[in-house]
Amino acid sequence: MAEAVYPVSAEWARDALIDEGRYREMYERSVSDPESFWREEAQRVDWMRPFTVVKQTSFHEDDFGISWFTDGTLNLSANCLDRHLAARGEEIAILWEADDPSTPERRITYRQLHEQVCRFANLLKSKGVRKGERVTIYLPMVPEAAVAMLACARIGAIHSIVFAGFSPEALAGRITDCDSRIVLTADEGLRGGKKIPLKTNVDEALKECACVDTVIVLAHTGADVHMEDGRDCDWASAAEGQSAECEPAEMNAEDPLFILYTSGSTGKPKGVLHTTGGYAVWASMTHEYVFDYKPGQIFWCAADVGWVTGHSYVVYGPLMNGATTVMFEGVPNHPDPSRFWQIVDKFGVEIFYAAPTALRSLMREGDEWVRKTSRKSLRLLGSVGEPINPEAWGWYHEVVGEGRCPIVDTWWQTETGGVMISPLPGATALKPGSATRPMFGVQPRLLDSDGREIDGAGDGCLVITDSWPGQMRTVWGDHERFFQTYFSTFKGAYFTGDGCRRDEDGYYWITGRIDDVINVSGHRLGTAEVESALVAHAKVAEAAVVGMPHDIKGQGIYAFVTTNAEVEPDEDLRKALVAWVRHEIGPIATPDVIQFTPALPKTRSGKIMRRILRKIGENDVSNLGDTSTLADPSVVDSLIANRPQPA
Ligand code: PRX
Repeated sequence: MAEAVYPVSAEWARDALIDEGRYREMYERSVSDPESFWREEAQRVDWMRPFTVVKQTSFHEDDFGISWFTDGTLNLSANCLDRHLAARGEEIAILWEADDPSTPERRITYRQLHEQVCRFANLLKSKGVRKGERVTIYLPMVPEAAVAMLACARIGAIHSIVFAGFSPEALAGRITDCDSRIVLTADEGLRGGKKIPLKTNVDEALKECACVDTVIVLAHTGADVHMEDGRDCDWASAAEGQSAECEPAEMNAEDPLFILYTSGSTGKPKGVLHTTGGYAVWASMTHEYVFDYKPGQIFWCAADVGWVTGHSYVVYGPLMNGATTVMFEGVPNHPDPSRFWQIVDKFGVEIFYAAPTALRSLMREGDEWVRKTSRKSLRLLGSVGEPINPEAWGWYHEVVGEGRCPIVDTWWQTETGGVMISPLPGATALKPGSATRPMFGVQPRLLDSDGREIDGAGDGCLVITDSWPGQMRTVWGDHERFFQTYFSTFKGAYFTGDGCRRDEDGYYWITGRIDDVINVSGHRLGTAEVESALVAHAKVAEAAVVGMPHDIKGQGIYAFVTTNAEVEPDEDLRKALVAWVRHEIGPIATPDVIQFTPALPKTRSGKIMRRILRKIGENDVSNLGDTSTLADPSVVDSLIANRPQPA
């Protein structure tokens, strides 16, 4: 079947910041002369002391290192706030929409945000927070989350946001790993009318974290929560007494900005570390070019600040560019599936950016929910986090955008800091399902499993051969793991973990993870994480987890579980294990299928044959490949015969 192609409209080609000619010219310069390209591009940042060195980067073991704008100094909160005050101090920085549509919205100007950030930064200082110290943030989607991030950036503290859907256990692990002394939270979060007991979760987590001596608690729902004497304090009253002036700290370009934990194919989640200067350039540049952002436009990225998308495109990118950024506390289908589009109309949103999983769940509800809203303000749509299937793409384009809005399908990762492969709306003809072409400075290559480069059209492992400013710099506390995870599989290249196809036009089509990472509703999970949660249950002997196709979530979680000998697995145990995993990790890790089995398919040397389990998970058992090394091939037949139907 011929692929559909959507050419750039004459209007977009004329009005956009970057048209095809300019894309080609800039891309060519960004890879042939990165020094001059980035020297120029980095002028979008207000440097306190200008850098002289642009780039010192090597992906090779003998001289491995990644450093950008090394001798420059800056403050990112000043770049997001102070420098806008003269020209747009009274313009709205954050437009906040509550979970409940009857709660009034909040409109926070740049001047007000600046004041709140300064007060909170002073509060952090008064609690003894110093440059380089880690501050854990466990907050719902409220403006105070942005205030907290920017306050950390202002004084040079490193923020580590833990998504408010994670369990106390997951929170405790992340607090301990980065040795955080202070936690910022709220009494409760609200999502789809449901209350999330954030403070109770923190109290639970802190039983395991001796390092924490201070908790600042935002009264969000007003719930009556336990406040520990000498440890916990109320956000508003503590911030109120602070000065509204706080000098931004002068940070080196390579000083850490934030840690964000993400799942890998092995072990516990790793703390991805981003630094200040390069990240600032990358977040701001990609926000401007990918979304064709022009001052005054209303920009809405529907991601939570607990994920990297929220860091780069709810907070840092838009605020650096002086945008009005929309923050939404709730969920797409509450109180009904029109919610997103009602908010678009209410605020006059021009650029809307969301994950395919949300679109698929809305598509299922029917077009009426969309059609009854106007959406005439929309001019550009974006997609992020997982492959977008052509059907969802078509719905987004025709129904949501009424055929008039280009879709930027942006491929990137927590590790990359910002968008890496994406159309530019004024330059790139679109193909549904393709992230299309690389961003400036990004040099993608496809390699076969032996590390040989695939030229022209073909399929392979996606690697990036040179550094870009927004690249992560290390795994917190484990630089060796950083090198091993990303730079040892293919020598001299950053290995993304994704498979990818390149077509005749040089367009990239991400085919999904090729390691043991699964992508559930656009959220990354390591199969090993879910397995270790399962085996931590007293009745479980062994577990193997694979991804399975899921209509809404993209991928679902399929768990094969062997119970201890004396345990008779039944429906009650299945339910108990589902609840257990939710408790250990959080609701995003809820298994979709648990298949009890007396044994897992293993080779004679005892290795679980995951390839076969993946096939069973995908319900694609016609060709299981070579099974001759299995210790007991009958295990596979019994797994296939007893495969439960997903609920
Ligand atoms: O597999 C790719 C998928 O999400 C992974 C990165 O997940 P995370 O670090 O949580 O960041 C998500 C938000 C940037 C990638 O390795 N992915 C992300 N965007 C796309 C995608 N897969 C296909 N198309 C995309 N646009």
